[in-house]
Amino acid sequence: MLYSDKVMEHFGSPHNVGVIENADGVGEVGNPVCGDIMKITIKVSDDHLDDIKFQTLGCGAAIATSSVVTDMARGMSLADAVKITKAEIAEELDGLPPAKMHCSVLAADGLRAAVDDYLMKSGREPISGGPEDVDGDVHGPAEA
Ligand code: FES
Repeated sequence: MLYSDKVMEHFGSPHNVGVIENADGVGEVGNPVCGDIMKITIKVSDDHLDDIKFQTLGCGAAIATSSVVTDMARGMSLADAVKITKAEIAEELDGLPPAKMHCSVLAADGLRAAVDDYLMKSGREPISGGPEDVDGDVHGPAEA
């Protein structure tokens, strides 16, 4: 299996690893395909992601996708962050082998779960629409 240089970079030196103390939102998700798990913690200010960290117990692709999604999401509005798709994550990494595309779902879903957790803790409605669909679409409330 061939990984891009970018995947190898993020796998070798992942960015934003760890857990934020007193996080505003926490997303913990498991991958139904392989059983790997990840946790994303976020700090929110003015509905933007001020800080974001991850911990992943998963494969190299899961670590690389988690690393790159935290880079992509930092500073984004909550509304934009929940729209990041696994396809965009894979593109940011110059592609993933087809057998590893499911790994990028973990990062995207963890981020969505963390944003929703923050909103619900603040007494607001979740906005992510839930986990990403297997075909790359995001379930919106209209499809629920
Ligand atoms: Fe489990 Fe990649 S094999 S996340």
